Amino acid sequence: MKENLETILKKAQEEIIACLKPADLANVKSKYLGKKSELNDLLSSLKDMSVEDKKTFGKLVNETKQEITSLVDSKNKELEDAILNEKLAKETIDISLPATKILCGAPNILESVIEDFESVFMSMGYDVVDGPEIEEDRFNFELLGLPKGHPARDAQDTFYVKGDEMLLRSHTSPVQARTMLAKEGKEPVRIICPGKAYRRDDDDATHSHQFTQIEGLLVDKDISLSDLKGTVTVICKKLFGKDTVTRFRPSYYQFTEPSVEMDISCFGCKGKGCNICKNTGWITIGGAGVVHYDVLKGCGYDPNIWSGFAFGFGAERCAMLKYGINDIRTFYNTDLRETANFDRREDI
Ligand code: PHE
Repeated sequence: MKENLETILKKAQEEIIACLKPADLANVKSKYLGKKSELNDLLSSLKDMSVEDKKTFGKLVNETKQEITSLVDSKNKELEDAILNEKLAKETIDISLPATKILCGAPNILESVIEDFESVFMSMGYDVVDGPEIEEDRFNFELLGLPKGHPARDAQDTFYVKGDEMLLRSHTSPVQARTMLAKEGKEPVRIICPGKAYRRDDDDATHSHQFTQIEGLLVDKDISLSDLKGTVTVICKKLFGKDTVTRFRPSYYQFTEPSVEMDISCFGCKGKGCNICKNTGWITIGGAGVVHYDVLKGCGYDPNIWSGFAFGFGAERCAMLKYGINDIRTFYNTDLRETANFDRREDI
């Protein structure tokens, strides 16, 4: 019996080693461990033996069975590993291949400049308000000291949408009138209004029939030109760098008196003269002034009690200067390559 078991074990061992596929191994397993196996026959023959022999041989048969089982298990693992390794070898990834490029969006630079203005003004207690782009002649011109037929209207010729009463606003200043009328002359005003404006301009590198302004209005008591100068200077230092110097040149607007053009020292050359500032050392960034007596009165504020200042910054102008863009059309172009290079905006 003992020899018989040894032969069975030896044969099983040889056949297990020879297996190349899991299916072969399954056959070998059932041949040696299944119901119709020699080992099973031997086990059934135990019942005719003496108690003593049953013990000895039963133990031997079981040991052989266990040995064959562990041989099958380890061969099984070996075959499975081989299959897995083969699969892994076939599926290798070439990490030297260039990765798929992920296109990343960048903030629109004109919007960024507007947001910079908004956050600085908000920190000074200003509200950001909105106004309609399709505007009434009354708000765009008449309440601002530009009655019908006034020659200064020519410089702000625009697109009329309904007769001569409705137009695309030629500046954001009508929001001044709208805000004051809404407050009915009762309370101070402190607002900025960024938004689109339109003019009948021939488009070129510095002109566009549609552009963006950032209007500002402050109405309170005892407000003078020096308050305007102080506010604008603080804003410009915050937005364009603390070394920025401001300059106010006399100018003329119908809705402010006195009126000024606002210049800042060129940050390209720090005032020495370069091609950004056309060798003047200064860059004009908008118009401003003390709110005209008649405008206050026409918009419901008693000019003997209230006074104020207003300004209008050219948003594209500021963005062009800040990012060194030399053509205003860049902002309205749908070609993303033109603005993609500005995405690494340095914080100001
Ligand atoms: N609205 C003027 C313009 O478009 C700018 C401005 C605003 C001037 C406010 C004075 C006060 O040119």
